[in-house]
Amino acid sequence: MASLANLLLFLLFLGTFSPTTIFCFVNPAPAKVHESATKTSPYHTYIVIVGPLPTNIDEDGHRRWYESFLPSLHAGDSGKPRLIHSYTKVFSGFAAKLADRELDIVAKKPGFIRAFRDRRRQLMTTHTPEFLGLRNNTGFWRDAGYGKGVIVGLLDTGIYPLHPSFDDHGIPPPPTKWKGTCKAARCNNKLIGARSLVGGEDSGDKVGHGTHTSSTAAGNFISGASYHGLGAGIAAGIAAGAHIAMYKVCTASGCDESTILAGLDTAIKDGVDVLSISLDTGSLSIDYDPVAVGTFSAVSRGIVVVCAAGNDGPVAGSVTNDAPWLLTVAAGSVDRSFRSSIHLSNGKRIDGEALTQVTKSSSSVYPLHYEKKRLDCNYNDLDNNTISGKIVVCAEMGPDVHPNIHHIMDAGAAGVVLSCYEGYTTVLRNFNSSVVQVTPVDGEVLETSAATSMGATLTYNNTLIGVQPSPVVASFSSRGPSPNTMGVLKPDILAPGLNILAAWPPNTESGQGPSNIISGTSMATPHISGIAALIKSLHPDWSPAAIKSAILTTADAVNKTGGSILDENHKNASLYAIGSGHVNPAKAADPGLVYDLDIIDYAGYICWLLGDKGLATIVHNSSLTCPKLSKVKGIELNYPTIMVPLTSTPFTVNRTVTNVGPETSTYTAKVEAPKSLNIQVTPDKLVFSKSGEKKMFSISVSRKLGRGERIEGSSSMGHIEGSLSWVSRKHVVRSPIAASTLLSP
Ligand SMILES: *[C@@H]1O[C@H](CO)[C@@H](O)[C@H](O)[C@H]1NC(C)=O
Ligand SMILES: *[C@@H]1O[C@H](CO)[C@@H](O)[C@H](O)[C@H]1NC(C)=O
Ligand SMILES: *[C@@H]1O[C@H](CO)[C@@H](O)[C@H](O)[C@H]1NC(C)=O
Ligand SMILES: *[C@@H]1O[C@H](CO)[C@@H](O)[C@H](O)[C@H]1NC(C)=O
Ligand SMILES: *[C@@H]1O[C@H](CO)[C@@H](O)[C@H](O)[C@H]1NC(C)=O
Ligand SMILES: *[C@@H]1O[C@H](CO)[C@@H](O)[C@H](O)[C@H]1NC(C)=O
Ligand SMILES: *[C@@H]1O[C@H](CO)[C@@H](O)[C@H](O)[C@H]1NC(C)=O
Ligand SMILES: *[C@@H]1O[C@H](CO)[C@@H](O)[C@H](O)[C@H]1NC(C)=O
Repeated sequence: MASLANLLLFLLFLGTFSPTTIFCFVNPAPAKVHESATKTSPYHTYIVIVGPLPTNIDEDGHRRWYESFLPSLHAGDSGKPRLIHSYTKVFSGFAAKLADRELDIVAKKPGFIRAFRDRRRQLMTTHTPEFLGLRNNTGFWRDAGYGKGVIVGLLDTGIYPLHPSFDDHGIPPPPTKWKGTCKAARCNNKLIGARSLVGGEDSGDKVGHGTHTSSTAAGNFISGASYHGLGAGIAAGIAAGAHIAMYKVCTASGCDESTILAGLDTAIKDGVDVLSISLDTGSLSIDYDPVAVGTFSAVSRGIVVVCAAGNDGPVAGSVTNDAPWLLTVAAGSVDRSFRSSIHLSNGKRIDGEALTQVTKSSSSVYPLHYEKKRLDCNYNDLDNNTISGKIVVCAEMGPDVHPNIHHIMDAGAAGVVLSCYEGYTTVLRNFNSSVVQVTPVDGEVLETSAATSMGATLTYNNTLIGVQPSPVVASFSSRGPSPNTMGVLKPDILAPGLNILAAWPPNTESGQGPSNIISGTSMATPHISGIAALIKSLHPDWSPAAIKSAILTTADAVNKTGGSILDENHKNASLYAIGSGHVNPAKAADPGLVYDLDIIDYAGYICWLLGDKGLATIVHNSSLTCPKLSKVKGIELNYPTIMVPLTSTPFTVNRTVTNVGPETSTYTAKVEAPKSLNIQVTPDKLVFSKSGEKKMFSISVSRKLGRGERIEGSSSMGHIEGSLSWVSRKHVVRSPIAASTLLSP
């Protein structure tokens, strides 16, 4: 145990941290919320980062030191302890109840680095393994032992432990390094960790989100999984052989950052290998984003951290979780449709989807009904007599979509056709009546048909596989470029996230289990976490950056028939939507070359972006200071994707690749670019003679605007896309290149 004298001695060494900066906390809460909060209590939760303690100080020592920052141990006369969480791994720091004016006192204490007002974050399969080329008992999936020996941690809403996905048949005991505990109704070799950080010990899942993401990442093989008969088949998570550790940090109302950090802290202590974070973290400068700060510690300990890109697309610059040490995942469709069709009496057929498939299609013809003024189908505006016996066409529906549809059906409608979302993205929802969901494009056709009182028949055709085009970027998937980490292309990768079938608890507000179909970058994230686990199982010594590089440089730039991956409007998807492309797990296990990065590289990048204060906030290593490090610009970070300024004079960046393929191998540079972009690679040949060997090369990019050439996007957000592939006899190591007018040379 650390003595008080030790602590005092240590405090003397913290002189480099200025005690005078007191306005360095984030207060993003809207004024209104602030007011109502202060009325009830003058106290808010603050996350406070302080200088690192020597490694020999134990948890009690940490706690005592943190308490020394507080004006008192209890908040007011409430008798409630101020200290809520005491962190030791994400950083030295704590979460505590403080009144705003007390924060000034805390900030004046030696050792104080930064404080953030706690904020609340929002949460944002049977077929997907096959869609991703993973087939049972074959190839890479088997070779990786389905992720055997790897521990996938999830920060989520908890887990329903009794689901068959979390059975442990065929799973060996966890590795001896595992230090976690499991507090759940069933713990076994599959579910080795379950903890609640939201208060109380109940790690159960009342929302469903955490059960869904856990089973997608690492659910065991189960047969006969389906959603009311849809999508039936053998279900498995991507890393079906891996262990699961659930850190419950969210409830139905969201996830507090102070709790997310407590989950991260525990997961690092416990010894997880991969962390899957399907939470929206807002878009903040990375040194003001406690999750970016906390995950840096995880990555520096070798943990691969995979995060959702966010559900705020298709707006440009909406990507979140964009720190360069994170793997940021965008969401796309799969080649599956829960087909339901509308047959118009003029012979035309419109294909939509329905989660509730009426078992027997009827051949009855009903007139279509559409009211332009009531396009949102608000039930109160509709007349029972007019809609009775008709198929009601709704262009959009507000938050009351469920009760509205319920009433419309009760009033005797024959069915509802609902067109929602943007472009070709149909986010399926659970309606327990005859509702067919169509794209807005098809919705317009139906509106025109309804105007002539045309008749229609609804048919249900169950689950179709092989739907084209696929993958298609989901409209909600957040887009780059990243406003906070300029020069680093985000999101990193596209994975299945639209209408994903996975495990579900028995009784929740939004479903009954044992499975449910939901959408989001939340659903795309655990696919990549599972793939990272498979790679980790094959290559336990690879760094998180090497594993990321392997996933990115082997991603598919085109779909299975060689066409462009499309966006929600069926236009060629931009790099800001798909990053390096659609994940290809089998190739990711054997990338040939990797673009590696270590803590010193990231530290140099943080110095360039944020200076010493940012470094102290994020890196917490007193032996690293900006004057001692060389600054690394975003574009110069050894990232597996490339962003450069778009200039008429050649702009050069360097990259270094490490040989992780055959000892002797030769790679030649292959460049793809439109006429308007000139890309030179020097040298254009890399010869390796041993494994682990590193080679540097430079890429020069310039703009060559001829007549009629144009830049994608508006002039301010414009960019031109190309790619560099290093090609050997066995490998293609591809990096997309975005030359952007947003970046300055
Ligand atoms: C797939 O492989 C796993 C592990 O070998 C096995 O438990 C499961 O039963 C297999 N499923 C099928 C459909 O072959
Ligand atoms: C159908 O949905 C409505 C509203 O969502 C609900 O009140 C009703 O109980 C549901 N009926 C069945 C049979 O599930
Ligand atoms: C329409 O029908 C519903 C369900 O049958 C009923 O509850 C409601 O009162 C009716 N509304 C009118 C205006 O008749
Ligand atoms: C229904 O599915 C069958 C077989 O999958 C297919 O041949 C047929 O065209 C589909 N019909 C419609 C209306 O989609
Ligand atoms: C591939 O994309 C093209 C358009 O870029 C599309 O026409 C084609 O159907 C897609 N193929 C598949 C298998 O989805
Ligand atoms: C989309 O990409 C394809 C190649 O996959 C190309 O032939 C086509 O010209 C592109 N379309 C546009 C509008 O750029
Ligand atoms: C701090 O950085 C130095 C230099 O890279 C490294 O040797 C040391 O292990 C780091 N310390 C910690 C606690 O990570
Ligand atoms: C890139 O590499 C070249 C050749 O080694 C070197 O001259 C140049 O300074 C490097 N540029 C940067 C930005 O490191």
